[in-house]
Amino acid sequence: MKQPILGSLSPEAFLQSYWQKKPLLIRQAIPDFQSPLSADELAGLALEEEVESRIVLEQGENPWELRRGPFNESDFASLPPSHWTLLVQAVDHWVPDVHSLLDYFDFLPSWRLEDIMISYATDGGSVGPHYDHFDVFLIQAEGQRRWQVGPVYDASSPKREDTDLHILSEFEVLEDYVLEPGDMLYLPPGIGHHGAADGECMTISVGFRAPSHREILMQFTDFIADQLPESLRYSDPDQTLPEQKAEIDDQALDRLQTILKEHIEDRSMLAEWFGEMMTQPKHEQPVDEPWQSWEAFKDEAEGVDLVLNEGSRLAFRKENGSLILFADGDAYECHCANAVNLAQQLCQNSQLTSDQWHSVVDHETRGLLLDLINSGCIYPLFK
Ligand code: SIN
Ligand code: CO
Repeated sequence: MKQPILGSLSPEAFLQSYWQKKPLLIRQAIPDFQSPLSADELAGLALEEEVESRIVLEQGENPWELRRGPFNESDFASLPPSHWTLLVQAVDHWVPDVHSLLDYFDFLPSWRLEDIMISYATDGGSVGPHYDHFDVFLIQAEGQRRWQVGPVYDASSPKREDTDLHILSEFEVLEDYVLEPGDMLYLPPGIGHHGAADGECMTISVGFRAPSHREILMQFTDFIADQLPESLRYSDPDQTLPEQKAEIDDQALDRLQTILKEHIEDRSMLAEWFGEMMTQPKHEQPVDEPWQSWEAFKDEAEGVDLVLNEGSRLAFRKENGSLILFADGDAYECHCANAVNLAQQLCQNSQLTSDQWHSVVDHETRGLLLDLINSGCIYPLFK
């Protein structure tokens, strides 16, 4: 297990004093850090159809021009020598060595993770002063980047009108740092920041997702509503003679609030929706021909470990002695002790050793494993 990237600060102290509260710079958070991929490899990813990538040019057709990938070789060849940045999302889904960086963040709930974005910038390249809605840990991978950090901004902060990017037109610099490889800067949501490359550089951004209240309300109410029959309706058997026929009186609002509360306060529905929502993968998992039976799989995969797909997301919730495993947007109820243990092992370690899964004999646990394998969430690591 990797040490958290907090230097001498304990995870408890970080959570108490910095998480979602204030920026933190840790010099040599990962000592002797070697970038898990090169600029050429990053550019190679940006050529792929299913990879989300962007290029930001400080002086393109308009200031801070945004170009969206996938790109081709000639797109790169036509770029100016400086002042542009290539940004590739979800590199953790595509590159196992980048995915392994997540082990540094075991001190946070894993379902809060959004993705690992990696940027390559030419000299002076930046995406302009801005703020994000997500917490982000910026790890300097190669070269140097100068980070200027400001106060908290929000939707009312003035932004530039001459670009599609959200760039602050007024940016106050409170801190100014040059990051070297292995240094880490944590920024809570809303904190203004501006990172400009000092020579060529690469930066790794580990971002944590936080659904907006709008998303929570809209998606949860959709989730509940989808499961309600048309026959459940507003009802008013207690209606008395109205004083004025057009008035919506307090009793009508009380009845509506009772209906809303009854559904919204259902915690098991809330858990199911949230678990499924927070484990939605960013990309569909590649699925091979499904195994027809546990025996067929077991014969073929004798002695190999089962590992979590890099793009998969897991979470679980314990309720009344059983456990619901959420995997890539699906919910699996685990009742027997074996299934509960195995699900937790998988969530904790992202893998099951051959001993762990071979010893499973009960029907429920085998069914769970087969479902996870056939959906592409876990796969046998054939050497
Ligand atoms: C970058 O890596 O260039 C930008 C990261 C950020 O500011 O969020
Ligand atoms: Co940012």
